[in-house]
Amino acid sequence: MASKIPDSLHIVMAASEAVPYAKTGGLADVVGALSLALAKLGHQITLLLPGYGTRLPHRHRRVAMQFSVPVGGDPTDVSIEEEYVTVTGASHPVRVLFVCHAPYFDRLGLYQQDHRDYPDNLDRFSFFCRAVIQVLHVLVDRQREKLDILHLHDWQTALCAVYLKALSHEHTSLGSIKTLLTVHNLGYQGIFPGPEFMKTGLPSPLFSPSSLEFYGAVNCLKGGIIFSDAVSTVSPTYAREILTAEYGCGLEGVLAHRTGGVSGVTNGIDADVWDPARDAYLPAQYCADDRSGKRVCKRALQDELGLPGLDVPLLAVIGRLTFQKGFDLLLEILPELMGLDLQLIVLGAGDSHLEQQFTAAKEKYAQRIGLHLGFDEGLAHRIEAGSDMLIMPSRYEPCGLSQLYSLRYGTVPIVRRTGGLADTVVPFRPSTVTSGRATGFHFIDPSPDTLLSTILLALHVYGEQETWKALVTSGMNQDLSWDQSARNYVKLYHRLGVRGEERG
Ligand code: ADP
Ligand code: GLC
Repeated sequence: MASKIPDSLHIVMAASEAVPYAKTGGLADVVGALSLALAKLGHQITLLLPGYGTRLPHRHRRVAMQFSVPVGGDPTDVSIEEEYVTVTGASHPVRVLFVCHAPYFDRLGLYQQDHRDYPDNLDRFSFFCRAVIQVLHVLVDRQREKLDILHLHDWQTALCAVYLKALSHEHTSLGSIKTLLTVHNLGYQGIFPGPEFMKTGLPSPLFSPSSLEFYGAVNCLKGGIIFSDAVSTVSPTYAREILTAEYGCGLEGVLAHRTGGVSGVTNGIDADVWDPARDAYLPAQYCADDRSGKRVCKRALQDELGLPGLDVPLLAVIGRLTFQKGFDLLLEILPELMGLDLQLIVLGAGDSHLEQQFTAAKEKYAQRIGLHLGFDEGLAHRIEAGSDMLIMPSRYEPCGLSQLYSLRYGTVPIVRRTGGLADTVVPFRPSTVTSGRATGFHFIDPSPDTLLSTILLALHVYGEQETWKALVTSGMNQDLSWDQSARNYVKLYHRLGVRGEERG
């Protein structure tokens, strides 16, 4: 007989992306892996995602519910498709529910196409949030399920908290559900022109500075921050940073006024998917005790990106090409870097001017730079494995996952000391080296010169084989798995006063 799990919660996750279904960045990694980690801790998980139609992996799903959601006063049909994911070591499978309405979600991109946001993103995601609330009603009112937590992620789902709490008189049967909003990136708030407020279907008094209005515009994230029972973000340092004008993106005051403050829970990694000893994307596997496979990965990566198979340091960047990531700093120091004995690999997609600049750099230094513009999951794994160093010069970084993957793959991160980068990479210093704790390199000033001098320091240490080996080993031996972070989320849920039940 399965043993009873005390205090097992039913947690509903709502997000706009999650692996393995849809991904543009770290949000997807977190939502997918956190759901599995919570299930392994004995909690019941229902994950709600937009039904991205033909973009989704082809699997068997059944239609679990059908209803309509008012859009601009007209009822619009939604069907909720359902699938279950078995989780090794968990007593319940994860239930995944897709909110399907093809005109909104069966598109080429998640949020944009050809570098342009879809003009109807407010329609799409307020529709999604309203459908989520309807699903909760079906689960509670019709199926008699007990739901404890609605865990929301970023602006795309923030309005769920507004519908649930600001219109609580319409949702009395959902009154005991507590909401947690996790902010993964304050740089994306879901801001739309004021006149679009009516698209949300919310009563007009909510379009005020104490609710969703933000300098005359609609701000979805602001609404979520105000109406959620708790707010968290993805590292303790970012939780402090966003209370300042420098990092708060205009919402620092709103965040500071939240009773209970903003908690910081550092992201983990899915240690089953990101494991160099088992990673099927790699040409060879390896582990901390035997890294010979990493050399094979490096050669294969050089081949894959058309670089000569030289025994020189291989530096890499992976990420969305946006101002946030600070890759422009790297572009500025390319002439100096290319004068050194090294190779650079870039994987990314995003701002067209950054794409053009990297393309021009690749043309100029064809034998030194490997470039792939676009999104390629397998290549991201092979770069993490085949490179010697990963550069993350982010202007801000709520947590960052790429540096965590680098640590696990024995690739030394060079990071700007901000947000989760500060919390997860132990900087190279005499004291941290002596104590065997150093895992990478930090710099503070977001300037090309400091980036260059930090890379030069890293290259120097790379030449000292024993010291480099110690850095790599201590990175690979970190416990970066989700287990502890998932437990920290459970503590946050409990702080909201929910009490689970024994489920067997
Ligand atoms: P962010 O969420 O801000 O984009 P993170 O470091 O948290 O940054 O997560 C980025 C995730 O997206 C990582 O899993 C990384 O491997 C992946 N990624 C980013 N750009 C690409 C790309 N062009 N191709 C494949 N994977 C990418
Ligand atoms: C965001 C952040 C990134 C974080 C990710 C997952 O997109 O930019 O730092 O790791 O979300 O939480």
